[in-house]
This record gives sequence, structure tokens and C-alpha cells, in this order.
Amino acid sequence: MKNNKVYIFDTTMRDGEQTPRVNLNIKDKIEIAKQLEKMNVDVIEAGFPIASEGDFEAVRAVAKTVKKPVIVALSRAVKKDIDRAWEAVQYAVKPRIHTFIATSDIHMKYKLKMTPEEVCKRAIDMVKYAKSICPSVEFSAEDSTRTNPEFLYKVLEGVIDAGADIVNIPDTVGYDIPEEYGKFIRGIKENVPNIDKAIISVHCHDDLGMAVANSIAAVKNGARQVECAVNGIGERAGNAALEEVVMAIKTREVYFGCKTDIITEEIAKTSKIVSHATGMNIPNNKAIVGANAFAHEAGIHQHGVLACSETYEIMTPESVGIKKSTLVIGKHSGRHGFAEHLKELGYDNLSDDKINEAFSKFKDLTGKKKIVSDEDIETIMNHEIFQVPEAYSLDYFQFSSGNTMISTATVEIEFKGEKIRKAAYGDGPVDASFKAIEKASGMHLKLKDYFIKSIGSGKDAIGEVTVQIQKEGDNKVFNARGMSTDVVEASARALVNAINRIYDEAIKYSKVADN
Ligand code: KIV
Ligand code: ZN
Repeated sequence: MKNNKVYIFDTTMRDGEQTPRVNLNIKDKIEIAKQLEKMNVDVIEAGFPIASEGDFEAVRAVAKTVKKPVIVALSRAVKKDIDRAWEAVQYAVKPRIHTFIATSDIHMKYKLKMTPEEVCKRAIDMVKYAKSICPSVEFSAEDSTRTNPEFLYKVLEGVIDAGADIVNIPDTVGYDIPEEYGKFIRGIKENVPNIDKAIISVHCHDDLGMAVANSIAAVKNGARQVECAVNGIGERAGNAALEEVVMAIKTREVYFGCKTDIITEEIAKTSKIVSHATGMNIPNNKAIVGANAFAHEAGIHQHGVLACSETYEIMTPESVGIKKSTLVIGKHSGRHGFAEHLKELGYDNLSDDKINEAFSKFKDLTGKKKIVSDEDIETIMNHEIFQVPEAYSLDYFQFSSGNTMISTATVEIEFKGEKIRKAAYGDGPVDASFKAIEKASGMHLKLKDYFIKSIGSGKDAIGEVTVQIQKEGDNKVFNARGMSTDVVEASARALVNAINRIYDEAIKYSKVADN
């Protein structure tokens, strides 16, 4: 064994499947196992064959399919469990039986109803038995962290003598604190006389949110196998997240003086496959694989990342299989990040004035909407920035409407410095607003068509209204759009935009005529 190699033991399909309400069928397990092999995990715990026919079949199928990693079948320290585990895992190129028994006083007394002597003897006998049929055996002292250390040392010495190649020290109930757990592992290294004949493995649960911290504290103190699950799934609050353990060791390689053999570029894909198969969404703020793990919103951060990604990124997105960092354009973004984002959207070579104008409209929108999407920005660019001059502008509008009243609207429009206020009633607030705007513009208009669509999703999506307008006595149809989180306002803006187009066309036409 290379002393600085940390073996990654994936238990996504065993402890991970013990996540409440998660069920993986054989097809899911084969897909996950193949991806784990591609990611180069050292060990795959494929299931607990005695637990059910489905578990048995899945372990057997994985053992037959996946060749490179060690394939593990779990068993209690009971002969019939071990036989069943072997029956399933024997087809693997590298099979392993993982047998466990609890060693803490509380488990021995209430769950097992066995004395410590009986537990120690059972552990030794069952490891011996497992080793007589399988070339590789792992022993777990369940609830190790609440076990009397002297008793644990004795059990570990006994099982190593009996042939255990790996001894696992689970923090079954997620009780330990990193410093404490690190010392616990060191104590095992220093007090179990034959410990150099086995690999120390750790298996931490996340009940206090410390599974990853405990696992890596153990690595720092001599553990060389970490049991973990993709996306941190597992019994109750879950297991140590594989991707976090691996990236902590990789990112802080100098600190740990250790390495894993994981192909980290496969992490994001593996995470997605597991999320899909388990039906468990990955929270946006999840370390390494969450949607926000490489996303920057604050202006200062965006500026920094654009200048040199290391200012705010301790690992590259590419190193975990994510294409690139994202600059999330939102309320906290600065002009710099916004201008960069405009370039990505294809708005190149904009003048500073245009960028400023677009940025200010974008900022207005972030005050109204939680998430401003690229579509929203495109709508601003296409319909507000690159539009005809605003001869008529909508200063304000007001409407009242309801199912038992006549809808009325009052609008104020500014034209050549003059403020024109008009009111009208109509068939609904949009019709009333249109009539009021028509009056204020002094034009006689005909609404040929009206479309409304939602841009983006959620209840704060933007309503985009498109109108087709004709001026009375003129055949030409003018299309115009307006947008707002309020659909009546979007409609009013669309009509004012149409009026501006009509006016612009009339001016151009009169200029040509004047020439
Ligand atoms: O949490 C635990 O103790 C376990 C053992 C079976 C290793 O999952
Ligand atoms: Zn567990």
C-alpha cells in the first residue's frame, strides 16, 4: 500500500440507498456503478445481500459487470449473512465481504443483548469465517465513537489477527467533533499492536453536519480509506459527501500529504446521475456540485473572477467536470460583470452610453424580479435599448377594475415636454388603458392584434405584450412590444411603443418629403 494514498470507498448504493424514501433498482445501480468505475473509485459497496432479494440481485449484477474497483457486500457478523454476501459478490474480479457488529455499551446492551466478551468473540469468529471464503475482508465496529476505546482496541486487534484487511471505525450516529475523532483514530494507530497489518477506514454520518470534517480529520491522523456517498446521501442526515472529501484532499494536498486516485472531472456527472436515480435534488448551495458552487453574483466578486479566477475560486470548475464558472447577473452585479455578460449574449461593441442605459434598466428590473434571466436581458436589449426614439413616454398610469365595476384608466403621457393626462373607461383594464393612451396621443388607432406571453418562470415572471396597431386611414401595421411584471403596464407600454413607431415613421416620411 502506498502510504499517502487515500482509498475512496463509495457506499452510495448501500448506505446511500438507506436514505429515507430512496429506492434504487438494478438498472440504476448498474448505471451508478459504471460511472463510479469511470470516476476511478477504489471500492464500491453494492448492497446488503441478506436484506432483500433485490439487494442480492443488485450486488450480483454489479459484481458481474464492474471490473476495476473492489466490490463489497455488507453482512452482519452472522454466518448466514456472510454466506449470502459471498453468494452475491463471488463473481467480482475483486470481491470483499464487509462484516459488522456494534461495540458500544448502549448497542451491546439494548440492541444485541450480548456481553462485550460475546461481541468480541463473535467479531473474531465471523472475520475468520469470512476470510476463509473471501480473499478480502473488512470489519466495522458499529458505533465505534461511543465505544470504550480499550474495548475497541481489543476487538480490532482480534479481528486483524483473524484476517481483517480493513478495520472501519464508524461514527454511526454522527456524534463526534473533528478534533476528537482525529484523536480517536490516532489512539487506534498507537494502541492496537497489529494495526500496521490493516488499513484504517472511516465512515462518518452527518447528524451534526460534520461528516466530511470528521473524515478528513481522520485522514490527517492516519486513516487511509474513507467511506462516503455521492451527494452525501445516506441513513438519516447522510454520509460524508464523496465529492467534498475528494476535493478537500485534492485542494489541500500539501496540508494532508495524501492523494486519492479519483478522476475528479467525472464528479459533476456522477452527482447528476445519482441525483436523478435517487430523485434527490441537489441544493443550489451544495459544496462542489451545487448550481451555485462556481457562480458569482456580487459585482466585486465578478470583477475579481474576470481578472483572475483564483481571487474567488479555490478550485476550477473544470476540475470537477463543470464547464466554466458563471457570472450570475443579479441584484448585486456590477456594471463590469453586466457588460461582460452582454458580450456573451452577443451584444458586442456597445458604446458606454448604451451599456449604461441597459445596466440601469436591468437594475430597475432586479428591484422587481428575484431572478433576472438572460431572456429578460435580451428583452431589455431588443425592445428598450434598440428601439425608436421615445417621442411619447408613459409617465404614469392608474386603473381600477373588478368584476362588478366598469374598468377605468388614467394615463399621463409626455410629448415634446408637454404632459397630457387623459382618462377613459373600457372593457377591462387593458382596453381602458388603451383608450386613455389613444386620447392622450391624439391619434386614432386600431388594435389589430394583441399577444401576451410570460418570459421566464415563476410568479414574478415578466409579461411581454406584443401589439399590432394601425393608424386610422393608414394600411400600415406597426408591431411593438412592452414588458413589465404587471401585464396592464406591459400592454400600456406596448401601445406607447407602437405610437412612437408610428410617429417616427411619420417624421422620416415628412423629412423625405421636405427634401
Ligand atoms: O453507520 C454505520 O455504522 C454503518 C456500518 C454498517 C458500517 O453503516
Ligand atoms: Zn453508515
